[in-house]
Amino acid sequence: MNLKIAVLSGDGIGPEVILQAKKALYAIGVVYEHDFIFEDAFIGAIAIDKTGSSLPEQTLNLCRNTDAVLLGAIGDPKYGTETASDTAPENGLLKLRKELGLFANIRPLKPFKGLLDVSPLKREIVEGVDFVIYRELTAGIYFGEKKLNESGTIASDLCEYSEDEITRIAHLAFQSAQKRRKKLTLVDMANVLESSRLWRKVVKKISEGYPDVALDFLFADNAAKQIISNPKQFDVILTGNLFGDMLSDEASVITGSIGVLASASLGEKNALFEPVHGSYPHAKGRNIANPFAAILSAAMLLEHFGLTEEAKKINQGVEKAIEYNVVTIDLNPDTKFGTNEVGEFISNFILNKDDLMYF
Ligand code: IPM
Ligand code: MN
Repeated sequence: MNLKIAVLSGDGIGPEVILQAKKALYAIGVVYEHDFIFEDAFIGAIAIDKTGSSLPEQTLNLCRNTDAVLLGAIGDPKYGTETASDTAPENGLLKLRKELGLFANIRPLKPFKGLLDVSPLKREIVEGVDFVIYRELTAGIYFGEKKLNESGTIASDLCEYSEDEITRIAHLAFQSAQKRRKKLTLVDMANVLESSRLWRKVVKKISEGYPDVALDFLFADNAAKQIISNPKQFDVILTGNLFGDMLSDEASVITGSIGVLASASLGEKNALFEPVHGSYPHAKGRNIANPFAAILSAAMLLEHFGLTEEAKKINQGVEKAIEYNVVTIDLNPDTKFGTNEVGEFISNFILNKDDLMYF
């Protein structure tokens, strides 16, 4: 298969972890005879530094005209939170999602067997957890009208959802549930928010078309508690942009590190794959960032194009690395391995090199 992949490494640890993901994809290309062509472009703080814009026109055009986008991370403390939102590095990512229409953010959560004891949660809570969060990604409070009064003392962000915006992601979530354990939980604040009440109404209606899927509802505050006290109950969680952002970070506690969580963001035409973690500025350039999330995002990319065997191979590589304890410091405080070594191990595994014992 020929795939043209736009690579937006971004800021902080982005370039380091994406390099390892590229290595894994390159190895897959060699072994399974695929032609992956990578094209790099800037986004985020680095893009502001180079071009003055967090999402340069050139980057957007490239992303529109490739099969998939592989993204690292965005954000740099030198552009503090005081930066007006339209010039902040994060805005580059929000704009990219919006422009490409990437309305469904899919964040699977299934702890690796070898990491069950790394989680601060008890083993009996973590073992057997397997759910996926469908987070709406191009609407809601992150995209609603923002206002600040002239004296800078009153601010507001509008949380708006249309029936269409709810419908398109709801269908994807129900379809996913059908292929899984057939349970869908809508997380909202329908006790308080009008937009949440619309979510419930629309999702209830759609559920009639999926009679094999059991639908239930959970308020977001309760969901935050349930996700770490009884995460096994979940199969597919469907929710809006803000709740999905928060709950997926929280859920990473289950896996022991946010450094192992991958995500896919899908639209009608485009698809983007990125780790759930951020740019982790303190770790930049220190060869300590966990490349698993970026590498597993590459696996999600392959899966998206039907390359299931190939995706599985990457997953096995990660499992093997965990088994051999070739992991970064977030997973083992005594490790002697860094970003590069972990990435190298996985690409060697994919290439079936027999020198894994070197590690
Ligand atoms: C994420 C990130 C982004 C978000 C930021 C960087 C805009 O936290 O992808 O989860 O909040 O959506
Ligand atoms: Mn987030």
